[in-house]
Amino acid sequence: MCGIIGCVGCGDGTLSTLMHGLSKLEYRGYDSAGVALVGAGGLRVDKTAGKIEALESSVADRDDLAGTIGVGHTRWSTHGPPTDDNAHPHRDCSERVAVVHNGIIENYQSLRDELAESGHDFDSDTDTEVVPHLVEAGLDAGNDPETAFRDAVARLEGSYALACVVEGTETVLVARNDSPLVLGVDDDATYLASDVPAFRAFTDRVVYLEDGDVARLTPGGWSVTGADGELREPAVETVEWDAEDTGKSGYEHFMLKEIHEQPRALRQCLRGRVDELGGRVTLEELDELDVDRAHLVAAGTSYHAAVYGARLLRADGVPAQAFLSHEYAVAPPPAGEATVIGVSQSGETADTLAATRTARRRGAETLALTNTVGSTMARECDHVCYIRSGPEIGVAATKTFAGQQTALNLLAQHLSDGPVDRELLAALRDLPGDVQTVLDGTDAEAVAETYLDGDAYFFIGRALQQAVAMEGALKMKEITYKHAEGFAAGELKHGTLALVTPDTPVVAAVTGDGEPARKTVGSVKEVEARGAPVVAVTDGRSDVERYVDHVLEIPETHPRTAAILANVQLQLLAYHTAAKLGRSVDKPRNLAKSVTVE
Ligand code: F6R
Repeated sequence: MCGIIGCVGCGDGTLSTLMHGLSKLEYRGYDSAGVALVGAGGLRVDKTAGKIEALESSVADRDDLAGTIGVGHTRWSTHGPPTDDNAHPHRDCSERVAVVHNGIIENYQSLRDELAESGHDFDSDTDTEVVPHLVEAGLDAGNDPETAFRDAVARLEGSYALACVVEGTETVLVARNDSPLVLGVDDDATYLASDVPAFRAFTDRVVYLEDGDVARLTPGGWSVTGADGELREPAVETVEWDAEDTGKSGYEHFMLKEIHEQPRALRQCLRGRVDELGGRVTLEELDELDVDRAHLVAAGTSYHAAVYGARLLRADGVPAQAFLSHEYAVAPPPAGEATVIGVSQSGETADTLAATRTARRRGAETLALTNTVGSTMARECDHVCYIRSGPEIGVAATKTFAGQQTALNLLAQHLSDGPVDRELLAALRDLPGDVQTVLDGTDAEAVAETYLDGDAYFFIGRALQQAVAMEGALKMKEITYKHAEGFAAGELKHGTLALVTPDTPVVAAVTGDGEPARKTVGSVKEVEARGAPVVAVTDGRSDVERYVDHVLEIPETHPRTAAILANVQLQLLAYHTAAKLGRSVDKPRNLAKSVTVE
């Protein structure tokens, strides 16, 4: 969604700190951007439609754009198209107040009508613009800026992370409800942002704000009041990853870097959790968790991980079902005794939060399986299990999907009453090395080159590879803008086969030599007979090679880890296709990394 950055105490470096923060937040939205600074010269704003580069060239032409406090914003449009006027920061009529916002103000229309009636003029189509006008009304009524801001926030319904600066003050005012905001604290400066990468280069000490919090950042420090208006003393936590983890490290795209980071990310996920000699999986943080049945709720890629995870849990004796979180929130199934597991790399996805909140309201115990320490889901759920993938910047989820798959393997074993699967433990031990083998030996780039002109791509797989087929298709469509569908191979002849032609490559995940593999080979023969080119992702244990045009190999492993390795080949196939087509791989059109509105 949108990204917010702010800082106090950076002196002459204020503008460059804001621009740095925006560049790190661009994955959250990238259709327009802007900054507001307050200093001796008053309140100065620059904003423009387009990516951060457009703002960079615009600010380079402004010698009046200076100040010692400031806020910045990168936008993913919800109300109104990406234009200069709709870009944040938004101002009041007298241009004394500037506000940046992430979220949706649900009652904005009635507020706007009320403000318009009392003489306020609006420049944009956004919901956000009501906020500076409300603050202005408070200032006009004789209130100090903080009171005017608090009163304005009290009028808002919906979700918001807000940051506001007022001419003539040295304070950034901040409020949070249902939208992430974190403070970064250092001896001389204080930062605020939607996400830590925005200021990680300057400090590793962070304060996660809670819903209902209002914070005040001044040159002397920071303070937070809670929903009850009382001063709070939130914990200052330390971030465990480095600023370099949010750079490209020489790779052309974040996505490629993150695909290549998977061996390390999976090692981190497994560290201290698998005792191969003792034949145990230990998730200490979940010692108190007892699960009779499970509902896994998630969206997008995380939903595919949930589909995969539900199968593992069922196979290990825990009745489990995966649900799309947005559907679960509006039409929840009978609650029963199910523990609700929110699967979300960001821990901020509004749809998935809505589902875990629905579950909590119904009295269910909840578990967050997430990558993001301090995220809303991690804080709201009764239990949390981190996947430990490190920061993921590319909009397309890659290493976090592998991390979710791996953590779900651990969870299923941890919750199982049956004997531990020692072959799985050995496969998990070898998993980081096996992923490295795939990365080192892949032919995905050559295969991608061959099918750049494909009309559509179909991905098929059975059992655990069904989730991988769905994920392979999602990856392909989101970054290549090509039509792709992924589904259980058995579904092919029930409809989609009608679309199969020599111009629709079919990618089949065929691993092992059991029934799922044998039957998928049958599906491969069906599409081959219709002239479709076929790419098999395989460990060579079936005879699928005989019927296909290309093979993407994975090492032999356990069926569960085979689904993780097969996915790596599909990530690479999508990546190389998108890169060769010249797509905006890390920031595909219309998408944003963290979808914090429903
Ligand atoms: C696709 C992708 C999205 C997310 C989805 C849920 O590559 O990243 O489909 O998986 O928006 O996000 P999280 O996992 O943050 O809840």
